[in-house]
Amino acid sequence: MPKSYCLPFALAAAMLASAQPVATPNVPQNLRCEYLTNPEAVDAIPPRLSWQPVSATRGAMQSAYSILVSRDPAAVAGDTWDSGRVATSQFVNVPYAGKPLESGKTYYWKVRTWDNAGHESGWSAVARFGIGLLNKSDWKGQWIAGGNALRKEFSVAGKVVSAKIYVAAAGYYELRINGHKVGNHVLDPSYTPFAKRILYNAYDVTRALNSGGNAVALLLGEGWFGDRVALVQLNIELEGGKKIEIVSDGSWQAGRSAITADSIYNGESYDARLEQPGWDQAGFTGEGWNAAAVKPAPTQALSAQAMPPIRALMEMTPKRMTSPKPGMFVYDLGQNFSGWVRMRASGPRGTVVKVRHSELLYEDGTLNVENLRGARATDTYTLKGEGEEVFEPHFTYHGFRYVEVTGCPGTPAMDSVQGRVVHSDVKPIGGFSSSKELLNQIQHLVQWGITSNLESVPTDCNQRDERMGWMADAHLYSEAAMYNFDMAAFYTNWLRSIRDEQDADGGVPDTTPRARFAHGAADPSWGAAYPLILWYAYQQYGDRRLLEQHFDGIRKWSDFLWSKSTGGTTDFVKYGDWVPVDFTPGPLTSTVYSYAAADVAAKAAHVLGKSAEEQALRQRCTEIKDGFNKRFFNAAEGYFGNGSQGAQVLPLAYGLADDKNRGRAQSYLWNQIVYHNNSHLTTGILATKHLLPLLSRNGNLDLAYDIATKTDFPSWGYMIQNGATTLWELWQKREGPSMNSHNHAMFGSIGGWFITDLAGIQLVEGGEGYEKVVIRPGVTRELKWAAGNFETLRGKVLSSWRRTDDGLRLEVMVPFGSTARIFVPKLGLHDVSVSEGGKPLWQDKKSAGSVEGVTAVSENEDDVVVDAGSGHYTFHLKGL
Ligand code: BGC
Repeated sequence: MPKSYCLPFALAAAMLASAQPVATPNVPQNLRCEYLTNPEAVDAIPPRLSWQPVSATRGAMQSAYSILVSRDPAAVAGDTWDSGRVATSQFVNVPYAGKPLESGKTYYWKVRTWDNAGHESGWSAVARFGIGLLNKSDWKGQWIAGGNALRKEFSVAGKVVSAKIYVAAAGYYELRINGHKVGNHVLDPSYTPFAKRILYNAYDVTRALNSGGNAVALLLGEGWFGDRVALVQLNIELEGGKKIEIVSDGSWQAGRSAITADSIYNGESYDARLEQPGWDQAGFTGEGWNAAAVKPAPTQALSAQAMPPIRALMEMTPKRMTSPKPGMFVYDLGQNFSGWVRMRASGPRGTVVKVRHSELLYEDGTLNVENLRGARATDTYTLKGEGEEVFEPHFTYHGFRYVEVTGCPGTPAMDSVQGRVVHSDVKPIGGFSSSKELLNQIQHLVQWGITSNLESVPTDCNQRDERMGWMADAHLYSEAAMYNFDMAAFYTNWLRSIRDEQDADGGVPDTTPRARFAHGAADPSWGAAYPLILWYAYQQYGDRRLLEQHFDGIRKWSDFLWSKSTGGTTDFVKYGDWVPVDFTPGPLTSTVYSYAAADVAAKAAHVLGKSAEEQALRQRCTEIKDGFNKRFFNAAEGYFGNGSQGAQVLPLAYGLADDKNRGRAQSYLWNQIVYHNNSHLTTGILATKHLLPLLSRNGNLDLAYDIATKTDFPSWGYMIQNGATTLWELWQKREGPSMNSHNHAMFGSIGGWFITDLAGIQLVEGGEGYEKVVIRPGVTRELKWAAGNFETLRGKVLSSWRRTDDGLRLEVMVPFGSTARIFVPKLGLHDVSVSEGGKPLWQDKKSAGSVEGVTAVSENEDDVVVDAGSGHYTFHLKGL
């Protein structure tokens, strides 16, 4: 069984086991600041605080909170902020409202809450947040460069009581103090439009410093910047109050490390013979070091990296090793992923061990690297000849399943190679599983496809000479990402990068950051990432501040598209419904996404109370819709565009079809899929995202299920039948030099459908952040059971259903302080009754007794409908 990011049932069971009934609410858990647990630096002012109240009582709500913030971790007495008792149900993103927060200081906080029955919780555990360097003048140093290693010795006369270091770099860096790497991030800093904004990291290094001699050192890699520059600010406070600042300047030494070459695409070369022991410690006297060069600042703005860093998160053990040629050893790690290998080898000094990476093998067992195009994906290591040497690269990553090792003296062992899975450390928060193994395998592809493509920006692929923040790829898998991983801080950062890249005319690039593939303004379907990810994030996290920050940006993007439109439709197109089986005309896709941009901007205007803008944008939507139907609906044949599936799916999903055209286009689509394609899709990346949800919500869940469970071309199952462990870029099986990555996440949009339409956990407009949830199980075809769950900011939501001999069992968890409308499907049965936890709830079409947490029950043609407050419920539906 391949490694998995989570086991929904195990998680849910563990969670339930710990939920012991108590009379009063437990202490608030999961304290966060700007979505992060104990961040070292945030610079959003005021920062916002979140927590999760806990209660075993169904329907529990928070009625009030009290927050204390202090500089002293030992006595959090509220000297910086004592909120007093604030009567509110809000516990997500509560803005700090105390004394002004000081740049570079750390604050400690705790919270207690009252529930709706007036019970007071105890105080939470103490959490903390650091305030970043808020002013340009807080950075006293200069940007420096020279070689790929920088160092500075300094001495400290006294006992260090606090020390915090801030490091900004363009290109990658690794920070070392007194001989040790600081922290456990890799490939820092996150990839941003460097000329506009560079992110800095902060570390508490109080315990890393000595009284006496110290050394701070940096290894630098070219990263996405293509060069190596860094800026350092180390603030030390000594016992007695004395302050010392160590900052980067011309007094630092610059030299060369044992890394002789590094490139994201090509790999890293390391010559252990060039190591200079002690170079990152005090008292070093090695040669070849010169004064660092002072450089102009490479950026306009510095911001705190308030998002999950990239880390090496999992180890992959090889499944098998073969030797297709003398001296060549090929390891199969069993899974396509992003990262590198840790290699162990020993041999004579000067031996060069070469490690190549690939997604594919030829039949003779050698590596097929044709689809990597220009990326050489090769790490080399020159042994120093001192017994067993262990090495792994610092400033590159590869997308691969197979590695080839050559140059190794003798025969390496199975455990000479270990895979290291490396990606942004977004916490796994949920998952999906079902009685249909194929769907579980697709879910595996979705999770691995997404994490392989989160390398501080959402990328298209992880292996070839690309790995860019392609905007369409990103928005297509963003909802699936949000159901499976905690993406709040990740997307908050990436949306800002899109805004940073936006041109004065409103155009946004096809890739963010804008890279060598992105010329001019984005294809309308690619630029759609800006409004759509913003809107999905608003729905998932209820974060109104995001809308405030980006409203102007998305409106300008809609204005830009409007300026390219005539009669409401947009001919401007570059890619359209990319990599389809059946082509859909570009002007049709562009017009759909111009509508989507205007529609999201109108909805955002509504939330923000900007009514004049809302009206103007709504008017624009009407004109686009009219123009669209006039131009693209073929009234004689009853279909949109050229009659492709994609040409029907997109206008239907985005609400562009006129009332009189909708029904015809829907039947046409059904016929297309069923009669012409034997229940296969023929859509490209854009329409694929919407096809299954659209069918499911128009009474055709069974057809959606049939499409999702196909195993011949074109289908997800076809990829799996052909050995895929991550999602392919193409529906077609191709392994040559043309464009055919085997780890693209864009078809991972199906992961959203698993949650919303099979497990059946849905958002309600106006219930953003899962304050209101709909549970609507997708009981269909041969599926015996399905379950989905994920951690919202308010707590876990779960829907797990199973057919029984006489009906259905449905387990539901509603997050704290939320309400749910739960549709218990009648499955065509008559005389249905519903019980909850063994207690009668509904019988003979009327209430059969009251159940804690349930506020209303009714029955319609298809379902028994239960309204309930937070808590864990198990319903049984029976009927004849
Ligand atoms: C990428 C895509 C991307 C596209 C633009 C490709 O090379 O890998 O996934 O969206 O270019 O059409």
